[in-house]
Amino acid sequence: MKKQTLRLLKCIQCGSSRLEVNVFKSSDQSIQKGIITCKCGFYYLIGHKIDGILETLPPYFRDLNSEKSFLENQGFTSKLNLKEWQLDKRDIWLVEQFKEAMKAYEKPGEAWSIDELEMMPLFLRLLKRDGTVLDLAGGYGRCTPYFLEKARLAVIGDLSIDELKVAKENLENLAIDFIQLDMFNLPFIDEAFDGIWITQAFEYIPPDRLDRFIETLSSVLKSQGVIFCNIEKKPLITLLSSYIKFKLKGAPIKFGEHPYTLRGGLLHYHSTPSYSVKKLERIFEDNDLSIVCKRDYSVQGSYPLVYLLQKA
Ligand SMILES: C[S@@+](CC[C@H](N)C(=O)[O-])C[C@H]1O[C@@H](n2cnc3c(N)ncnc32)[C@H](O)[C@@H]1O
Ligand SMILES: [Zn+2]
Repeated sequence: MKKQTLRLLKCIQCGSSRLEVNVFKSSDQSIQKGIITCKCGFYYLIGHKIDGILETLPPYFRDLNSEKSFLENQGFTSKLNLKEWQLDKRDIWLVEQFKEAMKAYEKPGEAWSIDELEMMPLFLRLLKRDGTVLDLAGGYGRCTPYFLEKARLAVIGDLSIDELKVAKENLENLAIDFIQLDMFNLPFIDEAFDGIWITQAFEYIPPDRLDRFIETLSSVLKSQGVIFCNIEKKPLITLLSSYIKFKLKGAPIKFGEHPYTLRGGLLHYHSTPSYSVKKLERIFEDNDLSIVCKRDYSVQGSYPLVYLLQKA
């Protein structure tokens, strides 16, 4: 990871930004292997899975035995105490959905959509020069290099280490950093970013996490910062039949969620986090995000709800 990224981080367990870094292996501007610890007992590893990639996942996405061996191999002997987080039935079901959904991303696959092509220049026009951009759920970094036309640093954050590995192989020599993260537990301080790009990923936001998610996006964005997002809509009948099917199986599903089977048999999770556009726009407004541009690309076969938002 790049040393300049350290200033953006906070602990996802207690929210503190007073983190301590122990470097095991580094070069001039970056850390290849290391550990970042917080007073509360939480820690992040660097280079445990892939050299130079920071991992900031919550405990339920982590392999603690593998982390222990990594630390032993690095000669790190301080005692650590990573507590398990309490999860209810619904949290456990969602974690299962996300783990399963990630398998589809073991190989890069996404292509540019018409809304991204048209909105990227507008996003760049609004973006402050020399700032920092977060490509959230950015996958293998298909869009990330474009932010460097204006930004000094871009960060790709994604749940999938396989995609981040590809991203790092392709983009390592640019001013881009790579963080394995869960977008519902962002490891960033308030006002860390001047822009957040979230494309082809809104469909992973569960309906009951939407409010909190938008609130967090707004908090990690600077004043005048800009957000791009594109949002899927599904026919009411599809959502209703998913809801009934999974409810009958006893799954703690919420209306709007749509788990389905991909070609090849993989189970995949999609969600229409807000069926009501009015409600969605009220959440934006409540979080100081005003709509600069709103477009419907459904006629072109792309996303029906596309927004550029700007923070007050
Ligand atoms: C359809 S891909 C889009 C990737 C990239 N934005 C692009 O368009 O090329 C969806 C991405 O969302 C990521 N994702 C899903 N759930 C996530 C979560 N909870 N936190 C972070 N990333 C997540 C997946 O790993 C995957 O890379
Ligand atoms: Zn902490």
